[in-house]
Amino acid sequence: SEGNIDEFYDTVLKLVKSCGKLINDKISKAKAIELKSSDIDLVTETDQQVEKLLIEGLTSQFPDHKFIGEESVADGAQCVLTDAPTWIIDPIDGTMNFVHSFPHSCISIALFIDQVPVIGVIYNPMLSQMFTARKGKGAFLNGKKISVSDKTNLSQALIMMEFGTSRDADKMKAVMENQQNLMPSVHGLRALGSAALDIAMVACGAADAYFEYGIHIWDIAAGEILIEEAGGVVMDPAGGEIDRMSRRVLVASSRQLAEQLVGKLAQFYPPRD
Ligand code: IPD
Repeated sequence: SEGNIDEFYDTVLKLVKSCGKLINDKISKAKAIELKSSDIDLVTETDQQVEKLLIEGLTSQFPDHKFIGEESVADGAQCVLTDAPTWIIDPIDGTMNFVHSFPHSCISIALFIDQVPVIGVIYNPMLSQMFTARKGKGAFLNGKKISVSDKTNLSQALIMMEFGTSRDADKMKAVMENQQNLMPSVHGLRALGSAALDIAMVACGAADAYFEYGIHIWDIAAGEILIEEAGGVVMDPAGGEIDRMSRRVLVASSRQLAEQLVGKLAQFYPPRD
């Protein structure tokens, strides 16, 4: 019910803010780095600590809720979304940035019920940017309502793309091809180094679209509801419906812009989650 959602929202917001303090504490210090899927796919003890604090804090309040957390999955937990209330967590999205003290990383957390996102929170504590969304209630940046841009023409659009965390030759080729295809036809190309913050930039109208191959559900879960509540669209980069375990995503300020972008993209299909 509405009342429950408000309680879930208040609880997660408090937890996210306190984890933000932890990230701000650690950002300028030396970090111990471990490698995951490749030598540029990183995890630090702060990623693990933030995920633990979020899961413990939410479990103590809502013992029947389920979780899909980036670092728990890295440690062998299942990555399966059921109808049960499920929190999808990226404790630090933009870990490479965090490791370099480049101040564009965030906590990204979403609650899905019946496989539909109902709460999304993306928080960059370094820049004090708190993006929030609840189903049917709009999208906000630090409490102010945000919405997507009105750019409908690719030639006037600022497009976010990412280089990703894979050294796979075909994956890197697809990234290069897309850069080459898009450069002559768009206003500008940008990469912030955090999928969630890229999506947040589209949600607040600072950028117009974003796409990536190789993301996981935790990179985009909070962004999905943020974009929808800000008036934008979320889909597969080939134009169909989003498939959250396919590791592919495209978001845009409008369907019209999304379709122009789809028309230019070389497609790549990573192994599914
Ligand atoms: C990564 C970042 C990066 C994107 C990768 C993600 P992480 O998340 O969002 O910008 O290119 O696909 O995996 O590993 O820092 O949480």
